[in-house]
Amino acid sequence: MVDGEWAERQRQLTAAGLLVLGKAAQERIQRLSDISSLIEAAQRSNVVMLSERTVEEMLTLVPSDQTIDAPPSTPRSEQATLPDPESRSTIGRTLAPVGTQVLAPPVRRYGLDHYSLDDFPMQAKDVDAEIEIHFDITGHSTTEGKMQDIRSCFSDRLRQIRQMLIAGRALPRRPISTSEAWRNRQRHSSRDYEVTLVGLVSVDKWSKGGYLWFDIEDDSMQVRCMLKEPTGVSSFHPSLDGLMNDDVVGVSGHFVIGNRDPYFSVSDIHMPPLGVHPKAAASEAEAVSAAFLSDVHVGSKTFLAPQWEKMIEWFRTDPLARTVKYFVLSGDGVDGVGIYPGQERHLAIKDLFNQYGELARLLEGLPDWVDLMILPGNHDAVRPAEPQPALDPEVQQDYSDAVFVGNPCDFSLHGVRILSYHGKSIDDFVAGLRSVTYSSPELAMRAMMERRHLAPSWGGKTPLSPEPEDRMVISTVPDIFVTGHVHGHYVGNHKGTTMVHSSTWQDQTDYQRMLGFQPKPCILTVVNLHTHATASIPFA
Ligand SMILES: [Fe+2]
Ligand SMILES: [Fe+2]
Repeated sequence: MVDGEWAERQRQLTAAGLLVLGKAAQERIQRLSDISSLIEAAQRSNVVMLSERTVEEMLTLVPSDQTIDAPPSTPRSEQATLPDPESRSTIGRTLAPVGTQVLAPPVRRYGLDHYSLDDFPMQAKDVDAEIEIHFDITGHSTTEGKMQDIRSCFSDRLRQIRQMLIAGRALPRRPISTSEAWRNRQRHSSRDYEVTLVGLVSVDKWSKGGYLWFDIEDDSMQVRCMLKEPTGVSSFHPSLDGLMNDDVVGVSGHFVIGNRDPYFSVSDIHMPPLGVHPKAAASEAEAVSAAFLSDVHVGSKTFLAPQWEKMIEWFRTDPLARTVKYFVLSGDGVDGVGIYPGQERHLAIKDLFNQYGELARLLEGLPDWVDLMILPGNHDAVRPAEPQPALDPEVQQDYSDAVFVGNPCDFSLHGVRILSYHGKSIDDFVAGLRSVTYSSPELAMRAMMERRHLAPSWGGKTPLSPEPEDRMVISTVPDIFVTGHVHGHYVGNHKGTTMVHSSTWQDQTDYQRMLGFQPKPCILTVVNLHTHATASIPFA
């Protein structure tokens, strides 16, 4: 380096407030191709005097020509400044990563999974709608609510699920009627002469020893049963989790006849079989997506209007939104009127029709490539007894291009079978099963799938309409199972079925605050019908 060049470097160092001490330091600095990193490291380390040793220390802190392109295995500096002399620490501040590294994507809100746009390949506007309804009670409710209707409904449930148990080879032997078993109870009073019964459950209690007592009833009579925990079972086994009233199950065991009333000691309990479901997929030429939401609760003071606008903006601008062909709203679109005592003081819109008018206006903001499907929930203006019919034609008038269906609704989009159920019975599952809580609605959904019934318990929190055929039975395992109602959010998989607990657009209510329940509002769940990839988009 010629003297003129060194003079220029010295000028830069002096301007940066740095003083070079000794010939050795000068020579070391002269060998550098560039001194800007050295100046930066010295300034950040509060170094003023540059001796030969200090220069070497500074150079360990900055990326050199070699370290920048070095492979990741190359040892690199752990810090980029010298420690603060007053801190007594041996560790300085890291200024910037040196060497090659792989950046992890940032954690998403609520810990939501990341998604890749490659899994959502088709634009919605390029595909014609294909909706096939398999079950919707609208216009098909025949019950008069008489005792005979109730009897028919339960007989039909028993028949349907017994058939599933038999056809699915879930039973160890041919089941016999409870009356036949009872008649022959002396013969069936040892493990060597076990019998199998199938019937409706009426839960009694857990005994002090942890045994579950219940009655099992078929068309002939009811028998008192006792279930002990078998060894090595999971916490979802009925002996630990419990049973729901009016579940249909099979039981194998023998009678215990002693001084007390005879009872049936259950050695094995049989639920309808649920194997791994081979999911159907839309064809590659129809690889559009469906979006799921529920519980918008328009009319409530806690409806989150700014976040709705954010979602509408997302629909107009985001590439993922362009793949959304269907928007399924699974109940509680409005908050309703007179749903619970004192609701009026929580309402921003007190007139029911105005609530539906406002919901229609909000949905109008969705792009025209989106087809709407609307189910009712327990806050909607239809009969609360399930299956619920679709919203009244008078209400439907406000909506252009929406398909109104009942709750639950079993339908297919491009061959992908979807079961959408608002989810009122989750209240009963929380009360009835030990595993289920309001913060884990997916476990209620799991329980529904495993017992092949959406709302088994009569006389609980879910009003049921006793149709002669029990259409709350899950007769066909869906490819996608959707619920809402409890204002959580979940996307997952249970034995091959995609499980979606759709989010709400209502902020925490006073009632939820009192219970200490934290909702997960404003998350849109998107499922691609061809790849079955899912994406959850938060707007709050
Ligand atoms: Fe709701
Ligand atoms: Fe609800």
